[in-house]
Amino acid sequence: MAKIRIEGGHKLSGTIPISGAKNSVVALIPAAILCDEIVTISNVPEITDVDDLENILVHLNAKITRTVGKVEINAGDIINKEITETLSKKLRASYYFMGALLGKFNKVEMYFPGGCSIGARPINLHLKGFELLGATITEEGNHFTIEAEKLKGAHIYLDFPSVGATINIMLAAVKAKGKTVIDNAAAEPEIANIATFLNNMGAKIKGAGTSTITITGVKYLHSCFHEVIPDRIEAGTYLILASLIGDNLKIDNMIPHHLEALIAKLKEAGVEMEIGLDNITVSSPGNYKATDIKTLVYPGFATDLQQVMSVFLTQCKGRSSIEETIYENRFNSLYELEKMGAIVKVRNDNHKATIKGKTPLVGADVNATDLRGGAALLVAGLIASGVTNIDNISYILRGYDHIIEKLTNVGAKIEII
Ligand code: EPU
Repeated sequence: MAKIRIEGGHKLSGTIPISGAKNSVVALIPAAILCDEIVTISNVPEITDVDDLENILVHLNAKITRTVGKVEINAGDIINKEITETLSKKLRASYYFMGALLGKFNKVEMYFPGGCSIGARPINLHLKGFELLGATITEEGNHFTIEAEKLKGAHIYLDFPSVGATINIMLAAVKAKGKTVIDNAAAEPEIANIATFLNNMGAKIKGAGTSTITITGVKYLHSCFHEVIPDRIEAGTYLILASLIGDNLKIDNMIPHHLEALIAKLKEAGVEMEIGLDNITVSSPGNYKATDIKTLVYPGFATDLQQVMSVFLTQCKGRSSIEETIYENRFNSLYELEKMGAIVKVRNDNHKATIKGKTPLVGADVNATDLRGGAALLVAGLIASGVTNIDNISYILRGYDHIIEKLTNVGAKIEII
């Protein structure tokens, strides 16, 4: 099994360009099959989640052409057949085929999706939305058959502003008859990116990016060209890294506005940065003070940055606390950080942890527990003294485009062995 080997402690300087957003592209690809013509998506990151979605498209007989940074999808000859359990379980975002196939054919058969093990991650809100649009759901173990004679617009209130449920309901409603309103919708930037894509095809979606989204069904979706927004979580990961070991390290081709909560917390701890229109430069690390973070839905502090931020907190003087309100199992990486010298305490209910700093981190053999936990260990390895070997790196490669090259280019000693 491949591992990532890091020789830590080298200052990083230069520019890290940010790629297209994982959590946007993984919805755009399934959304593309709603189109009745060919669509082109650009700024596509090279991550294994995209490979897994491509395999599902091929299974459904869609034609897909991939060149560097670009995907062209022709779903003209698509066959609506069951998505196998193996394909469904490969990644979380396979669930977007529920909304897309239901929206296109009024029927979908597939299995419960996969994804990082960071909590129970039910899909009850997605299913509730489909039912309100007129679908019936048959659940046998992990297998779902969702079908409707006809989908009809509805008023849907989400008990929680779920990213996945909001996007899936948009996909199912885009061709439904009449008007759908999603209340308490998620407002993450990725939602607006998917809505723009569908609108570029001729859909009528208003309010994406706010808590109320209105979708007026249309009959036909035409060809379009669409660009994936920059990955705010990748940018945030490198911004935290720059705050720890950057020497005029510039994070480029990003949208600073999407990271306001992270920027505020880093500034509160004492990080000095220069914020440009589409970039942020951190000059050199200083003496940081402890700070508390609480994960929330957008525009709150992103849960996807909580684990990487925990590494930053090990380098802040004093006791910092982390409250995780989105997932019930996102502290596993802290136990790996402990092996590197971090002083952490996780409360029994797994929702709160404290970190005492500042503690020097020392290289160790560690396991990536999930995608962002893996990224946290990678950041820890880069600032630690000595050598760190990270196992289970497939988690990291699911979501970070060209991570080894990007870091090597700015002076990191990192390789896959
Ligand atoms: N939830 C329910 N019922 C549902 C849906 C969600 O109870 O039907 C709960 C979840 O269990 C969780 C919370 O609501 O506690 C948030 O879930 P959400 O649906 O918003 O998350 P998701 O769609 O499963 C996406 C990203 C995650 C990111 C979250 C929150 C994708 C493929 N995944 O997940 O990304 O953490 O939104 O922003 O877009 C990652 O990139 O590492 C990652 C986990």
